[in-house]
Amino acid sequence: MTVAMDIAINKAESSKLQDLNLDNLPFGRYFSDHMLEADYENGEWKNIEIKPYQPLLMSPSLAALHYGQAIFEGVKAYKDQNGNAFIFRPQDNFRRFNISAERMQMPVVPEELFMEGMKKLVGLDRNWIPSKPDHSLYIRPFMFSSDELIGVRPSDNYKFMIILSPTGPYYGAPMRIYVEEKYSRAASGGVGYAKAAGNYGAAMLATAEAKKKGYDQVLWMDASEHKYVQEIGTMNVFFIIGNTAITPDLSQETILEGVTRQSAITLLKEMGYQVEERTLSIDEIIAAYKDGSLKEVFGTGTAATVTMIRELRYKDFVMEFDTDKWKACPTVKSWLTDIREGRREDRYGWMWAV
Ligand code: COI
Repeated sequence: MTVAMDIAINKAESSKLQDLNLDNLPFGRYFSDHMLEADYENGEWKNIEIKPYQPLLMSPSLAALHYGQAIFEGVKAYKDQNGNAFIFRPQDNFRRFNISAERMQMPVVPEELFMEGMKKLVGLDRNWIPSKPDHSLYIRPFMFSSDELIGVRPSDNYKFMIILSPTGPYYGAPMRIYVEEKYSRAASGGVGYAKAAGNYGAAMLATAEAKKKGYDQVLWMDASEHKYVQEIGTMNVFFIIGNTAITPDLSQETILEGVTRQSAITLLKEMGYQVEERTLSIDEIIAAYKDGSLKEVFGTGTAATVTMIRELRYKDFVMEFDTDKWKACPTVKSWLTDIREGRREDRYGWMWAV
């Protein structure tokens, strides 16, 4: 839906940017000077405003706090070699945002509000895009129910916001992953394909237990048999077996349709890999590890970009990898970085000029 809408702009009196060292940034801790805020009331979006980043005032009965009608997206902005600002594939995030909204019984966010709002906000805070390699401006659009009522039903009122956070790499080093046998992230018929806030809260116990065992994250398996792989932590996952890249398919609606996942599929094909989106069992992975055909395992995500997995543990069986010898994962990562930072031709039209 495209609707002509006015976005009011109220600029901050001064910038906080000079207080920040853009060269050394943890993920998601610092926020830019401005934010976008809009209200859904009586069936329409109103009060659309870009304004100084500030706290929200909310009632303790705010519906989202009680029943979790809350969704979000992760998008990134980069600077090219000439200092021009671009956003990576925001249309795909826009589409996914409204898929999440539908699953969570929330209103559609119009394209103009999401896309133009994001463009104007990033344009205003473009100086916050770090220039350092592997750094970017993380864009966080989100929506939550805002009725002041603790009855369980979809709200009548919602808030849509976008905030910006300059950031470095999410996972610094190759990861050690515990194959999860007890907890599940998503079941068929559930909300696994939606970027619902509760999916992330529900994952924290399994992650904490994996960390106690010395692992960085878990590999989520299917909820009924714990036999087929789904995702790693907050990332989609790829296995290079022989000359084939295999990633779980989306048909069960248990997996997030990652924008970086889609980009990796495209680049792997360009590199000459056969790409298969299909079910993949832990037995097949172990068999490929044992016969030497399992070459690489890596995760993809907006925050994580492309992250190597150097160890996978299933029960007592440990699979270790020598990541120095890998080809597919480092190439996907460097091509993607080069496209984003303007050193490689954007032949798929992924970069959206701000
Ligand atoms: C992203 O990759 O953008 C995510 O949403 C993961 C996140 C929760 C940090």
